Amino acid sequence: MLNPSSESPSKSRKVLIETWGCQMNVADSENMLSMLQEENYTLTDKEDDADLVLLNTCHIREKAKHKVLSRLGKLKELKTQKPSLKIAVSGCVAQAEGKKLLKAAPQIDVLFGPGKILELPQLLKEREKSRLPAISVGFKRETKGYPEPDVTNFSKPNVSGKTEISRYVNITQGCDNFCTFCVVPFTRGREISRQPEAIINECRSLLNDGAREITLLGQNVNSYGNDLLTDSSQSQPNRSPFVNLLEQVAAIPTLERLRFTTSNPHDFTFSLAELFARTPKLGNYLHLPVQSGDDDVLERMKRKVTVAEYLERVHWLRANNPDFALSTDLIVGFPGETEQQFENTLNLVEQVRYSFVFSFMYSPRKNTAAIRFKEQVPEATKQARLKKLNHLQDNITIALNKEEIGKTREVLFAYPSKKEANCFYGRTNEFRLVKVASEHDLVGQTQPVEIIDANKTALLGRLV
Ligand code: SAH
Ligand code: SF4
Ligand code: F3S
Repeated sequence: MLNPSSESPSKSRKVLIETWGCQMNVADSENMLSMLQEENYTLTDKEDDADLVLLNTCHIREKAKHKVLSRLGKLKELKTQKPSLKIAVSGCVAQAEGKKLLKAAPQIDVLFGPGKILELPQLLKEREKSRLPAISVGFKRETKGYPEPDVTNFSKPNVSGKTEISRYVNITQGCDNFCTFCVVPFTRGREISRQPEAIINECRSLLNDGAREITLLGQNVNSYGNDLLTDSSQSQPNRSPFVNLLEQVAAIPTLERLRFTTSNPHDFTFSLAELFARTPKLGNYLHLPVQSGDDDVLERMKRKVTVAEYLERVHWLRANNPDFALSTDLIVGFPGETEQQFENTLNLVEQVRYSFVFSFMYSPRKNTAAIRFKEQVPEATKQARLKKLNHLQDNITIALNKEEIGKTREVLFAYPSKKEANCFYGRTNEFRLVKVASEHDLVGQTQPVEIIDANKTALLGRLV
C-alpha cells in the first residue's frame, strides 16, 4: 500500500524484468512489477535505460542455472559503465544458491527467493542505505496463508511482451510431492493454496483489462485447496476444492476460455475429467505430465501412478471425445533407465499420440533424492534417447496437425504476426496454434476457422 505519510514521492525509475522458467515465474514477475509500479518504477525492455534489472530465475535443470550466470556476467560489464544500475536476482536459483550466488556474482544488489517476493520494495530500500547486498531467502513455516501482494492498484501488469488476451493467475505456491528428480519443493517450499476470493478477484480484474483466456497456475493444481478445507467441508469428501474453484471461475460471463496447469496425474480425479465434459470453456486439451512410460522408472521417480493408471485418466478424458488433445513432459535418462524402459516411454508416446511433448534429459539437482541414485546414465546415451524421442514425437505432431486439414475449429485469436502484416495467431479449443490472414484485426475474437494447411508448428486457416 502506498504510504500516505511518506514525505516525498520517489523519482520515477525504469526496471527491466527478465523471466526464465515456468509460467509461475511469469505470474511472480507480474506481481513484482505491480509492487514496483507503486514505487514509481515503469517497465522498460532496453537494458541501457534501466535503473534496475530484475532476473527472475529458474533452477529446474543445470542448463537453466548456467544461463543466469552468463547473463549476470554481461550485466557486470553494464554496471561498470553505469555504476548506479541495480541488479536484483529472484526466483528459484536465488533460493537454491543464496549466499553462494552472491559470492560468485558480487555485482548483485538484491537477492531473494520465491517465498519472499513481497519483500522486494523493502529490500531495494535496504540496499540504498547499506553498502552490502540485501538478501532474503527461505520460507517461514509459521506464516500461514498465501502471500498476497499489498498494492493499491489491483490491475496486474503484463510482462509477457504479448497481448492482454491470455493471462496467468497463481492459485497455489510450492509443492509437497518431492518427485525424486525435482528441485521445486526445495525452491518454492510447501504447498499453500490461495483463497478462492482472491483468485476470482484477480480473474475479474484481468478480464476487465481485456483478457479472454485465463490459465490457473500451480505445480500441482489438482490438489488445490486441500489445505484450506475446514472441518465442515471435509464432511463432504466428494466436493473437490479445485473442481469448485474451476466451476466458480468458469461462471464469470466475460471469460471465454479457462485452462490450468500443471496437473499431476496422481491427483487427477474422475470428477475433474467429468468437469471437462460439462464445461465447454475448459476446451478439449490438457497438459498431463507423465515423465516416463515405464512403471519401475515411475516408482523410482516417486510419481505415485503406474502407466495403466495414467492411461485410465487419458481414457476418462477421451471417452466422449476422441479428439481430446494432450501434451506431456518426459524425462529421458533418469538414473537406472534401461534401453527397454526407454522403449516403454516411446511406446506410451505412440499409444497416447500427444499433440506435443516437452522432453528433457535428466539433470541431477542438488538436494533431490535421485542425485544419489546409482547408475547415472551417460550423457551420450541421454542425448541419443532424446533425439529418438523427439523424432518420434515430431512425426506424431505433424500427422495430428495434418489430420486437422478440412476441419472447422473455433479459434480464439491472441496476437498479430510480428513478421507478416494482416496475419493473426490464435488457438483452437484443442490448443493448436493457427495462423489466419485477415484485413481487419482479429485479436480478442473467437471465430470459426477452416484449416487449410498444417506443418509441425502451426495450422494455417481461413475465416469461415
Ligand atoms: N509440477 C509439474 C512439473 C514442473 S517442472 C509436474 O509435476 O508435472 C517441469 C518439468 O521439468 C517436469 O515435468 C519435468 O519433466 C522437468 N524436470 C524437472 N526436474 C528435472 C530434472 N532434474 N531433469 C530433467 N527434467 C526435469
Ligand atoms: Fe516437481 Fe513433482 Fe512437485 Fe511437479 S509434482 S513440482 S515434478 S516435485
Ligand atoms: Fe523453474 Fe522454479 Fe518454475 S525451478 S520451472 S522457475 S518453479
